[in-house]
Amino acid sequence: MALTMYASWLLLTQFLVTLVLTTAGKVPAVIVFGDSSVDAGNNNQISTILKSNFVPYGRDFVGGKPTGRFSNGRIPPDFISQAFGLKPTVPAYLDPNYSIKDFATGVCFASAGTGYDNATSDVLVSFSGFQIFYCPVVGLVVQSVIPLWGELEYYKDYQKKLRAYLGTQKANNVISEALYLMSLGTNDFLENYYILTRRSSQYSIKQYQDFLGGIAEEFIRQLYSLGARKISLGGLPPMGCLPLERTMNFFTGRQCRDEYNNVAKEFNGKLKGLVVRLNKELKGIKLVLSNPYDILLQIIQRPSSYGFEVTGMACCATGMIEMSYMCDRFNPFTCTDASKYVFWDSFHPTEKTNRIISAYVMKHALGVFL
Ligand SMILES: *[C@@H]1O[C@H](CO)[C@@H](O)[C@H](O)[C@H]1NC(C)=O
Ligand SMILES: *[C@@H]1O[C@H](CO)[C@@H](O)[C@H](O)[C@H]1NC(C)=O
Repeated sequence: MALTMYASWLLLTQFLVTLVLTTAGKVPAVIVFGDSSVDAGNNNQISTILKSNFVPYGRDFVGGKPTGRFSNGRIPPDFISQAFGLKPTVPAYLDPNYSIKDFATGVCFASAGTGYDNATSDVLVSFSGFQIFYCPVVGLVVQSVIPLWGELEYYKDYQKKLRAYLGTQKANNVISEALYLMSLGTNDFLENYYILTRRSSQYSIKQYQDFLGGIAEEFIRQLYSLGARKISLGGLPPMGCLPLERTMNFFTGRQCRDEYNNVAKEFNGKLKGLVVRLNKELKGIKLVLSNPYDILLQIIQRPSSYGFEVTGMACCATGMIEMSYMCDRFNPFTCTDASKYVFWDSFHPTEKTNRIISAYVMKHALGVFL
C-alpha cells in the first residue's frame, strides 16, 4: 500500500518535473513590432517629438524611471514576457544600454506613431488634437518615426547579431520558437485617415481597412519567410473611447465616438479572417489574434468592477488632450493615483489597464504558446 502510494507520488513528481521542463523555454524570447502601445523606448533614439522619456511617464515603473514607454509603468509586452517566465521588461532595440545578450530573450522594435501604412509614419499628426486647443496656427506637425518596414529591417539586423552571439543553430531555434507580437493600426485610422485627406480621398473606410489588412498579411508573410512561426496579431482597441477622441467629440458631451469603435470592430473582424486563412496556408505557422477590444470596452463601461474610478479622462494633465511633451511634470492637474484611471494620457492606458488587458489576451489568445 505504502509502496503504491510512494510509486504514484514518484510518478506525479516525475510528471510535474517533465511538465516544468517542457514548458520552460517553450517561448525563449518575445519579439515586438508596432506603435506606441508597445514601444519600450525606440523613439528616444530618433529625431521625433513623439517621446515619453521624461517624468511623469514611468513614475510607477521600476525605480520611477521614464523609459520611453507611453504609460506610468509597464506595457503589455512586459507583462506577456513575464507570463512566459521571461524577463519582466522587454528592452528597446535602439536603447544603447542594452546589447544582444539582453535582446536574445526579448526585444522591441516598435516605434510610437507608426502604422501599417507607410504614410502614417511619414506624416504624423498626433498633435492635431492639441493644435485645436493650443496652437491652431501651426498646422500639421510633420514627423518621421520608424515605419513598420523599417522595424523589419532592424529585425533582420537583429537576426545577424543573434546568430553571431548564439551560433546559427541556437539562434535559429530562438527565431522559430520566439513569440512575435504585432500591435499597431490605431494611428492609421486616427492620425492618418481621419485627419489627413490623402488616404480618405483615395479610399473609402472599408477599402482602407482592406489596404491595411493587405499590409498586415504581407508583413506576416515576410516574418514567416524569415523563420517566425508563433505570431500574435494585435486587434484594435475601442479607439473611439480614447480620451482625446472623446474630447474631439465635444458636441456630444465627450461620449465615445461610435463611428471609430465600429471601424475598429470591423477591422478586427477582417484580421480574424486573415488569421484563419494564413493558418491554413502557411505550413507550421501558429498565428493568433490578440484582441483587446472587448476587455477594454468592458473596463470602460463597468470601471468599478475592475477597481477604476475614471474612464473618460486620463490621469496626466487635464486628461482631455495631453500626451508626450504636453504631459509634463509641472502640470498641476496630473492625478496622484494612476491606478484609479483607465487611461494614463489622452491616448494610452495606465499600467493597471495594461496588466488587465495582458492577462486577458494571455488567457484568450496566447495561452496556446505556454
Ligand atoms: C543608460 O546609461 C546611461 C549611462 O551609461 C545612464 O546615465 C542612464 O541612466 C541609463 N539609462 C537607462 C534607461 O538605464
Ligand atoms: C512601404 O515602404 C516599403 C519600403 O520602402 C515598400 O517596400 C513597400 O512597398 C511600401 N508599401 C506600400 C503599400 O506602399
